[in-house]
Amino acid sequence: MDDIMIALAKGRLAKKAMGLLNEIGITCEEMEDKTSRKLIFANKELGLKFFLAKASDVPTYVEYGAADIGIVGRDTILEEGRKMYEVLDLRMGKCKMCVAGPKEAKDKLLHGELIRVATKYPNIAKDYFYNKKHQTVEIIKLNGSVELAPIVGLSEVIVDIVETGETLKENGLVVLEEICPLSARMVVNQVSMKMEHKRITKIMNDLKEILKQKEM
Ligand code: PRP
Repeated sequence: MDDIMIALAKGRLAKKAMGLLNEIGITCEEMEDKTSRKLIFANKELGLKFFLAKASDVPTYVEYGAADIGIVGRDTILEEGRKMYEVLDLRMGKCKMCVAGPKEAKDKLLHGELIRVATKYPNIAKDYFYNKKHQTVEIIKLNGSVELAPIVGLSEVIVDIVETGETLKENGLVVLEEICPLSARMVVNQVSMKMEHKRITKIMNDLKEILKQKEM
């Protein structure tokens, strides 16, 4: 029997995801050794392997079947637009995709002025402004610390993730429009879903059960 390969988005989410997997008996001792430079971690008894990847690469690994299962934020799923099944909302890492900026930018948004939008998520921003709001904007792709853009005059507004709102607040910015809610999702390769149906649905159902218990 082949191992099931699980790709986790590096960082905060990976820790939380492993915590949840631990609760359904999926553990990985190898992963806990922080000094190790290993990229792939195995739990031989369970027939599982894990790797950590940059969040935006997780959908790529899953679409091509290099990973059978991925755990990644909905922001990345929407942005990457890869072919795969999104099977479960893990209800963690909850936050929102928002348009934010100085409060004075509200008027420009309302009047449909040609504004510049800085973001790490150009596809989400395009879909929102062009397809949902039918507003022409100029989208500027950045790779991090997007909140800087309206402060230094690169753009009027940003499209970014807001979790606690602390980053916006500390930088004198506010949420101007909410685009959509976000949270971590379990995604599955389309072929793996057929070939490994039993093992993958077992993981999925165990997770569903534990999530249900948490809600109660
Ligand atoms: C994310 C996001 C915001 C911040 C929001 O950035 O892009 O900057 O977190 O969180 P808050 O509402 O709780 O303040 P991240 O820390 O991933 O770093 P980055 O900006 O360099 O991508």
